[in-house]
Amino acid sequence: MQKQILVTGGTGYIGSHTVVELQNSGFKVVIVDNLSNSEISVLSAIEKISGIRPDFEQFDLSDKTLTDAFFDKYPKIEAIIHFAAFKAVGESVEKPLEYYRNNLNSLMNLLDNMKRCGIAHMVFSSSCTVYGQPDILPVTESTPRKPAESPYGNTKAICEDILRDFCKVNSQTNCIALRYFNPIGAHPSALIGELPLGVPANLVPFITQTAAGLRKELSIFGDDYNTPDGTAIRDYINVVDLAMAHVVAINRLLNNNQKNNFEFFNIGTGQGNSVLQLVKTFIQVTGVNLPYKIVGRRAGDIEKTWADTTLANSELGWKAEKTLEETLLSAWMWEKKIRDIK
Ligand code: NAD
Ligand code: UD1
Repeated sequence: MQKQILVTGGTGYIGSHTVVELQNSGFKVVIVDNLSNSEISVLSAIEKISGIRPDFEQFDLSDKTLTDAFFDKYPKIEAIIHFAAFKAVGESVEKPLEYYRNNLNSLMNLLDNMKRCGIAHMVFSSSCTVYGQPDILPVTESTPRKPAESPYGNTKAICEDILRDFCKVNSQTNCIALRYFNPIGAHPSALIGELPLGVPANLVPFITQTAAGLRKELSIFGDDYNTPDGTAIRDYINVVDLAMAHVVAINRLLNNNQKNNFEFFNIGTGQGNSVLQLVKTFIQVTGVNLPYKIVGRRAGDIEKTWADTTLANSELGWKAEKTLEETLLSAWMWEKKIRDIK
């Protein structure tokens, strides 16, 4: 009997890749998404890759009545992967209440229903943003969290706290928060990938759009950081590797392999790369010209961060496998596909 998993935000960037890997691993998936930041055509793309069209319900998870009705309609769900959230850092500064309302209410509505319907397992999308600029690198799970730099980052910290407190009094509930570092790249089929709205704020979509001719040049934010080439360092994780971490986490929950009922793991490669290294690698693997200039630092940016992934490696038995080269190439193949570049 196939186990049914609810994937919230499953037509989004990371969610869609995770749905494919869950289906490949034999799970039955139902997606809930309100399409506030994704497109319905993603369902057909998923079907093209896996051969299976996932069940889909379109509604807003911050609406309690609709969420309750959904769980009444789907009584066989065994676990939830909760991706659905607003995620634009800059926008969250402009619209804090929208971010708190959407990200916190959605989680609480799901937890209410887990309790009501006896669903024991959840994997939650957290972020390395909860660590801010760590004092010691690489970042382990015992590195202290720092006060959030943005309302978005704060929603991730608060959601982790909600999960911790909920698990404390609901001993039958098991949760894993995955703290993603910087997810990049696309599925090797180039059928699904990231679809940023408007001018991308993140580095890799800006790079691929510049290479595609949509943007004049890339601005590199700062070359006066205390790093080998002066540009900021991040841990860029391939989105398919990241998707696989969710499958592994779901299996850990379903097989009752947890050490305690609220766990969290860093999900990165363990390698830091600078902005300039990324730009140079992109040019090298694609052979495409990428105009860029150095400008001042971006407000709120940290200097450097990368993960210590020892805990995820040993406890989850998960490890990032893809190289930066193949990941950047996959991002470029996806950009070419959506822009119809031959
Ligand atoms: P995304 O925007 O592509 O996907 C999120 C999906 O959730 C979208 O399809 C959106 O339509 C949907 N959604 C949002 N609010 C909803 C609601 N109230 N009800 C129903 N659907 C709703 O984002 P992503 O990059 O795939 O991120 C997935 C998760 O991972 C988010 O929680 C995000 O905060 C977290 N995360 C992302 C990154 C990153 O760099 N992409 C890094 C760390 C953490
Ligand atoms: C940002 C968010 C983080 C969020 C993540 C994923 C901030 C401060 N942090 O991380 O909370 O989880 O996105 O959505 O916004 N860069 C350029 N030029 C560009 C774009 C980026 O030089 O046009 C540089 C940035 O300064 C940074 C690196 O590239 O050093 C990566 O930037 P980005 O992709 O935006 O991710 P983060 O800032 O790490």
